[in-house]
Amino acid sequence: MSDALLPERLDAACGDLGGLHLRRDEPLAAHTTFGIGGPADVLVEAGTDDDVVRVVQAAARHRVPLFVLGGGSNLLVGDGGIRGLTLTLSGALAELRVLDDGLRIDVGAASTFPRLTQAALAQGWPPAVGWFGTPGQVGGALVMNAGTRQGEVGEVVVEVRMAGAGGLERRGRAACGFGYRSSAFPLGVVLTGALLQCDSHKSKEVETLTAMAHEQLNRRRATQPKQRSAGSIFKNPPGDYAGRLIEAVGLKGYAVGGAGISDVHANFIVNSGAATARDVVQVAEHARALVKERFGIELEWEVRRVGVHR
Ligand code: EPU
Repeated sequence: MSDALLPERLDAACGDLGGLHLRRDEPLAAHTTFGIGGPADVLVEAGTDDDVVRVVQAAARHRVPLFVLGGGSNLLVGDGGIRGLTLTLSGALAELRVLDDGLRIDVGAASTFPRLTQAALAQGWPPAVGWFGTPGQVGGALVMNAGTRQGEVGEVVVEVRMAGAGGLERRGRAACGFGYRSSAFPLGVVLTGALLQCDSHKSKEVETLTAMAHEQLNRRRATQPKQRSAGSIFKNPPGDYAGRLIEAVGLKGYAVGGAGISDVHANFIVNSGAATARDVVQVAEHARALVKERFGIELEWEVRRVGVHR
């Protein structure tokens, strides 16, 4: 539904954000791994917990939608872009500190997930083997409980820090609701960081873990496409694999416009360079329909579709 008064409220919200870096009509294709996405009305950058609270409060006060962009992986931004405020995190929120002789790591939500993975491997954290090769930022990795069958990030969370309209709060792992590629954080909050702990740290040599991680990555490199994508398009249904099902309905190589199902892995849609979000949705929904018809299985999107799709 279009909201004729949103531009005025957005201007008022921006008026409350003096001192923060604001960009108007910023094309989001440049900020996503897919290389797809229309403009953000306003892209705002926050470098501290307090900045994030200011942004969340300004959005709430002026009833402006707020979207957190994170590392731009695992996202399909619509061709119509994103209305309201789009938030990116940087600065002090990208910090990472190793604590207690490697037992704990404190990490900001804007730190890259690969950097956290490297730090965790260097402290001998076995679950980090399963994180290796996953892109994005820590905030997004927490929301999606990123990882693989060899380890998900939610396993090591002690608590997360988040900013809401009421200020900053902390939440322990049990209240985060981590599941397969999912979590249960309240709507309207922005994760700003986390304290992580691995009780089995240093139970294996760093060299052994790094070798295991590289082996996994090499296996993945051989089975996943190199072109731009947002990773796995669908979650795996219980007891099966989305890639196997989409291949079985004969869709490897199927394309609409610039978006196609990868010949290498059928649960990846790749951008040949000219794909629109609309192309991607058409390809994905065709695959979903054929899998449903043939196997009676409803594939669920893993990639988050955000913004205005047309
Ligand atoms: N398969 C096919 N055809 C294909 C692709 C896969 O038959 O075109 C079969 C494979 O032979 C295998 C099974 O499907 O038996 C599973 O494939 P794979 O080992 O490639 O793993 P996946 O379940 O497709 C998951 C994660 C990936 C992660 C890999 C590696 C999900 C949705 N995806 O993929 O995560 O990299 O394991 O551990 O859980 C992501 O989430 O974006 C992502 C890339």
